[in-house]
Order: sequence, then C-alpha cells, then structure tokens
Amino acid sequence: MPVQIIVGAQWGDEGKGKIVDHLSENVDIVARYQGGANAGHTVILPPVGGKTPQQFILHLIPSGIFHRHAVCVIGNGVVLDPVALMDEIHKLRDAGVSVEGRLLISHNAHLIMPYHKMLDAIHEKGDQKIGTTGRGIGPSYIDKYTRTGIRVVDLLDRDVLCRKLKRNLEHTNELLKKMYDSKELDVERIVAEYQEFDRSIDGYVTDTVDYLHRALAKKKRVLAEGAQGALLDVDHGTYPYVTSSNPTSGGACTGLGIPPTAVNSIVGVVKAYSTRVGNGPFPTELLDTTGDRLRTVGGEFGSTTGRPRRCGWLDLASLSYSIRVNGIQRLAITKLDVLDDFDEIRVCTGYVIAGTMVSRFPTDVQTLEKAKPVYKSFRGWKEKTSDVRRFRDLPPRAQAYVRAVERLLHTNVWMVSVGARRDQTLAVPRG
Ligand code: GDP
Ligand code: IMO
Ligand code: MG
Repeated sequence: MPVQIIVGAQWGDEGKGKIVDHLSENVDIVARYQGGANAGHTVILPPVGGKTPQQFILHLIPSGIFHRHAVCVIGNGVVLDPVALMDEIHKLRDAGVSVEGRLLISHNAHLIMPYHKMLDAIHEKGDQKIGTTGRGIGPSYIDKYTRTGIRVVDLLDRDVLCRKLKRNLEHTNELLKKMYDSKELDVERIVAEYQEFDRSIDGYVTDTVDYLHRALAKKKRVLAEGAQGALLDVDHGTYPYVTSSNPTSGGACTGLGIPPTAVNSIVGVVKAYSTRVGNGPFPTELLDTTGDRLRTVGGEFGSTTGRPRRCGWLDLASLSYSIRVNGIQRLAITKLDVLDDFDEIRVCTGYVIAGTMVSRFPTDVQTLEKAKPVYKSFRGWKEKTSDVRRFRDLPPRAQAYVRAVERLLHTNVWMVSVGARRDQTLAVPRG
C-alpha cells in the first residue's frame, strides 16, 4: 500500500480526524496536504489509568501523531500559522506526546502572516460574506498565487524576509490603516517573532517531497490526510462559498509532491447526515426541530470556531459527485449512532430544479440555491448502536441504511463509526 488518501466527501467535519487516527496504526507516515489551521480534526484518546478519555483537536499536525511509530508531515500545500503550530506542539507536549523526530515541515509551505488574519476579517466585511474561520487562509493563498507569499524557507535569511515583508506591507499597511484606523504593522517586530519561530521549528523543516519519495522507494506506507471537504474545494466545491485550497484527492499530489501513480487507495469520509459551517447553498439543510436535534445529538458545533453547524439529511446526489471528482473507492461512514433515535431517516437522491427532476449535483450556486431535494425515506432503528462492535450486530434497519447508501452510491462502505472513540469503529464486510 504506497499512498492512501483520506478525503472529506462533504463540507468538512466528517470525522476525518477519528478515521485517520484509526488508520494510522498501520501506516508509517501521515501527511497533511492542504489547508491550514482552519481545520479542526478531533481525536479521542483511550483513557490512561482509569481517567476519562482525552479529546484532542488538531489544526495543523496530522491526526497520526498519537501513534508513536508514525512520522507526521506538513506538506508544501499547507499554509502554516506559527502561532497555531506552536500552541499545538505545546499542548501535545503537555499531554506527554512528543513531536521530536516525528514531525517534518515542508520548507516550501507558505506562512500565515499576522496581516493575513486581519485581511481575512476585512474581506468578511464586504458584501460577499463566506463565513470563513478567520484564520487568514484565503489571504495567504492569495499571496501564494500572486507569487508574493513568504515560505518557511524564507525564514532562514533575515534580509530576504525583511525585503519580502516590506514589499507586502507597503500595500497592506495602507489598507489596514484605512479599515482599522490602526497603527502600521512593524516589520522589525514581525521579523523578530518569525525568526524566533524559525528557531523553534528548525529541527523539523526539511524537503518533505524528497523525504516522501525516499520513503515510497522503501515501500513505506503513506496516508495523506485531507482537511475540509470536497464541496469546499476551490475548483470543485460550491464556489465562491469554499475554502482556498484543493481538499479533493488531486490536492494530495500537488500538496505533497507525489505523483498520481503512487496513489493506490482513496477513501471518502462521510457523515451519516450532512453539516456545513459558514455560508453557501445546502439543499438538504433542515431549519426545523429535526435539524436542531441533529445538531444537539451530534454535538455539531465547530471544532475550530465553536460555531453551530448547519445540519440536514444525507445528500447522495452531492456524494455521487464527490465520489467521482475524488475517485473515492471506499467510504467510511461516521456518526451513525447520532441517528439512533430518529423515527424516520431521509436521504436525498436528487433535486427538483425549476420543475425538472435532476439527479446530478449542480456546482454553480445559482442553480444549487434553487434545488429542492427529493428524498427516499427509511424507518429508524430506534436502538443504541454505540456499544456495537461488529457490523452484523447492528440493528437490521441500521445495516439496511448502510447497505442502501452503498447501493445508491455504487461504492463500497469500508467502515462505520458509531462513536467518537477508536474502539467505536466497525469493519463492514463486502455486501
Ligand atoms: P473532521 O474535521 O473531519 O476531523 O471532524 P471534526 O473533528 O471537526 O468533527 C467530527 C466530530 O464528531 C468530532 O467531535 C468527533 O469527536 C465526533 N465523531 C467522530 N466520529 C463519530 C461517531 O461515529 N459518532 C459520534 N457520535 N461522534 C463522532
Ligand atoms: P475540517 O478539516 C468545516 C469552511 C468555513 C467557511 C469556508 C471558508 O475540520 O473539516 P476558510 O477559513 O477556509 O477560508 O473558510 O470553509 N471551513 C470548514 N468547514 N470544516 C473545516 O475543516 C473547514 N475549514 C474551512 O466555515 O465556510
Ligand atoms: Mg473539523
């Protein structure tokens, strides 16, 4: 198994952290390929010495970090926030998890600078509010693509860093003064802070592309961890209500520098219903007590910002699209247990748009906003599933729900998750 890619198949928060942690037991390297600290990947660690299970929310460090044999890579496609990274490293250290010798950071990853977060907030004041996480993601990728970005490698040379910062702040300072009526950002202070950061991460920075290629030549098993989800992809999602990177599987190749030919498995993580944080079309959204119930039972509040997530039924039309765009071969369905107590469970199989039945997911928001979902209904199983450990022991109606999703999507379901903990993961036999 050379490279396995784990992608979110919906609008993010599908439970990628849990699934990556689970799969990390059997891989050598776990690598994040895009996004930044906008991600919030939750991992629940088994209790140590009779204590309660510990929850960790990772924003930048790959979710394989709790498996001590695994090397974790932050790839060139990631936008790296020094504040978030150091905070995460310290939290892990406090919990007895050392990243020493196990964390590698691409020298070509772009940095999030203080002004990126300020610019993110300014963009959100405009008339097209995306509902971003405010982590400076869009502005950092803007600099990357206008070729003015500052990369990890630039921290090595004080003069290069000063020159690039001065150039970037020439325009930014004017805008910041206008919008915030604030003092100019001080180049010297930023340089000092980022050089201090450079000293802290010195031992982790390397040419990760070269490292991964050498590891692959030695037949090491690599797991590429996507952040966000396919429907938030800047090219294939519900643009402009998307993030600024490519969470889809293609992004793993560019974001890690590995060729498509090295990839042999693509797994899509899917929540048993749908959620979305931030703005943008969401055809199956439930703005009623059923939606509220999904939010309460599922604990649907953002791992990064704490915002309530919008909730709705599973949307198979969007999932079919996601499966095609990503080349997903197997699905991991999470949060099945959240549906335990519902009398009726629905899945959307297509839409009515301007009076016409459509099964294809339209990605232009103008059309998508008009889409009225068409549902197929299932009777709920009304039994607790969180203690079940084998697929065949799930209530028959829960099994039937999973098998119906599999059939309707023409894609195998590989595993089902019935709780946030590691042991609440069931292998699904071929149907
Ligand atoms: P990610 O961004 O895709 O990694 O997902 P998040 O961590 O943002 O959100 C998923 C949430 O669901 C977290 O709070 C997880 O602990 C939790 N979770 C994951 N799998 C399950 C599951 O099968 N059942 C339940 N009840 N919670 C789950
Ligand atoms: P994980 O990896 C869910 C959403 C934001 C907003 C849009 C753009 O935990 O699944 P950005 O800050 O990226 O410019 O915001 O994308 N968003 C996410 N939603 N899960 C995430 O990550 C997200 N990362 C960004 O809410 O709508
Ligand atoms: Mg998340």
